[in-house]
Amino acid sequence: MSNVEQESSLPLGLDVGTSRIVVARNMDKGRPPQYESQLNAFITMPYSKLAESLLEREGVFHEVFGGELVVTGNDAQRFAEVFHVETRRPMLRGLLNPQEPHSLPVMRSIISRLVGKATVAGRKVFFSIPAPCPDGDQAIAYHEASIHQILKQLGFDAQPIHEGLAVVFGEMSGSNYTGIGISCGSGLCNVCLAVLSVPVINFAIPKAGDFIDAQAALVTGELATRMRVLKELNFVVNGLSGDRVQNALSVYYDDVIQTLANTLRSTISSTQRLPKLDQSVPIVLSGGTAIPKGFLERFTAALQPEDFPIKISEIRVAADPLNSTARGALMAALC
Ligand SMILES: Nc1ncnc2c1ncn2[C@@H]1O[C@H](COP(=O)(O)OP(=O)(O)OP(=O)(O)O)[C@@H](O)[C@H]1O
Ligand SMILES: [Mg+2]
Repeated sequence: MSNVEQESSLPLGLDVGTSRIVVARNMDKGRPPQYESQLNAFITMPYSKLAESLLEREGVFHEVFGGELVVTGNDAQRFAEVFHVETRRPMLRGLLNPQEPHSLPVMRSIISRLVGKATVAGRKVFFSIPAPCPDGDQAIAYHEASIHQILKQLGFDAQPIHEGLAVVFGEMSGSNYTGIGISCGSGLCNVCLAVLSVPVINFAIPKAGDFIDAQAALVTGELATRMRVLKELNFVVNGLSGDRVQNALSVYYDDVIQTLANTLRSTISSTQRLPKLDQSVPIVLSGGTAIPKGFLERFTAALQPEDFPIKISEIRVAADPLNSTARGALMAALC
């Protein structure tokens, strides 16, 4: 097999996230995976020859759906400003957004661009799916089947993996894939306690980055997109300060952290027949919402690990929080 042919038969890991879709591929055994991502967003404009020729001139990938021009992925952000339109998102809280008629074609377009067509029959791809929320009746089965079908139509042998379990695969080879993987993303925080790579507890909470942006916007009268920009720029989770926006972000960051820590504690406490763990287990935090300074300290204080139903060896943030799910999906596909 030539290098190119070999590469095209290797498995892929795909993180299907509410705000970003990331593919991880192993180009070379023994080397770290390579990542490519696209914003999970799009804009639409009424079709006009002029707008289409402008997009063509700029080399922007676009499609025509039902009389509208649709620009998807990273270009959507760029051209939202040029054309003064709002970006829209195909997913909401970890799942396909039922209110958005364009969601499936847009996801198909972004996923196809990232993974391409499988030229070797049965090429494996593991794709992330969210866990159920404790009190939510979520349409996970429909979401999972839809992404599976997109990948199957591209020629892949596709398998779902829960996002929390992907974090365990990506970050916990050192503890024999035993520990608690947490991904704090945009729509959800996904959690998985796995023992020797087998998931024992798997749940999500419906509060993460989007919740922080929306709530902080509500109380400050600003736009959620502006909150997101300020949050990503230089926000530190360290309690209240003199600044109105920083205070609002702090309050809702703390809400997410408390809800996550409390739900983790109560879920583990109420689980009957927890496997007997001889050793203490690590917790790894990943996802974009775990990036700001101070997140680890606030989460650790909220969890009170010294008084937790199972023994915790360490709590740390993943080295590359935005790529950790895709990396774990790839590692699982390679097993
Ligand atoms: N540097 C940063 N500081 C603070 N927040 C950040 C930073 N970078 C990204 N984020 C936030 O992280 C979230 C996106 O994280 P991530 O890419 O892990 O989510 P996702 O996988 O798309 O969503 P989900 O897993 O919930 O479906 C957004 O809310 C974004 O604002
Ligand atoms: Mg995610």
